[in-house]
Amino acid sequence: MAVTGVILVGFAAGHLVGNLQIFGSPDKINGYAHFLQALGPLLWLVRLVLLATVAVHIWAAMALTLENSKARGPAGYGVNKVIQATLASRTMRMTGIVVFAFIIYHIAQFTLGVASHDTFKSSLPMWTMQEDAREFGVPLAAKGSEVADVYSMVFLGFSNPIVSIFYMIATSLLAFHLLHGIDSLFQTIGWRNHRWSCCLRKAAAAFCLLYALGSLAIPGSILTGLLKPAAGTHAAKVIAAAPASIAQR
Ligand code: HEM
Repeated sequence: MAVTGVILVGFAAGHLVGNLQIFGSPDKINGYAHFLQALGPLLWLVRLVLLATVAVHIWAAMALTLENSKARGPAGYGVNKVIQATLASRTMRMTGIVVFAFIIYHIAQFTLGVASHDTFKSSLPMWTMQEDAREFGVPLAAKGSEVADVYSMVFLGFSNPIVSIFYMIATSLLAFHLLHGIDSLFQTIGWRNHRWSCCLRKAAAAFCLLYALGSLAIPGSILTGLLKPAAGTHAAKVIAAAPASIAQR
């Protein structure tokens, strides 16, 4: 659980940092998404590793649950009283199931386009890069090249209140899931001793809070109109032309 947990926490944090580029110019997130798509076989390798990691994580969770119930025996607890277990630890299965359902919806929406075909990137006009996009000196997409308009896809996707609210609930639950997950991880690797326990718990809580705020900021600011699509983008044209119908989609 710990090894797969580390990989998944790393992915979640990296993905959030990438997604926060929606607050920059369309070139930013579109150039970044283009770079990832252009990785080709390497992208598929990363996808396979992630899929295997999720599968092992779920299998380990089920094995742990079975072991726990076997250790308790058929009679269960004599007294069912919470003494020290946190709410995050007691709701791991529930939050894990909601997050898993969210990931399936999310891939159907943004990777496969089956959940919302008309706002999916391959149904939208391509974006022409206004500038060369570069990150840490690595070229992502060249000025003038035509790339998928992930920027507009995210704006149009989150203009739907049901979708945005679902994202906000699911990512908050994910942050809560990570809170106990990271805590248990420190326990597994033996760092949660008397000396470190308090600092590590605070560090985990700070990380999860930042993660929740970052994840809430994207759908939250698009839905409330605090973040508007840049002028001239496909999303800006669609939202300006039919704000009511988009909001009801
Ligand atoms: C505000 C929250 C999020 C936003 C805006 C977002 C955005 C996106 C976008 C735009 C893509 C498609 C990229 C492309 O095809 O070019 C994507 C793919 C994906 N996202 Fe997210 N995401 C969010 C949260 C999450 C969370 C919480 C998870 C799981 C922990 C997640 C897991 C994935 C996965 C597994 C993919 C598929 C990557 C692939 O195509 O191989 N996302 N996301």
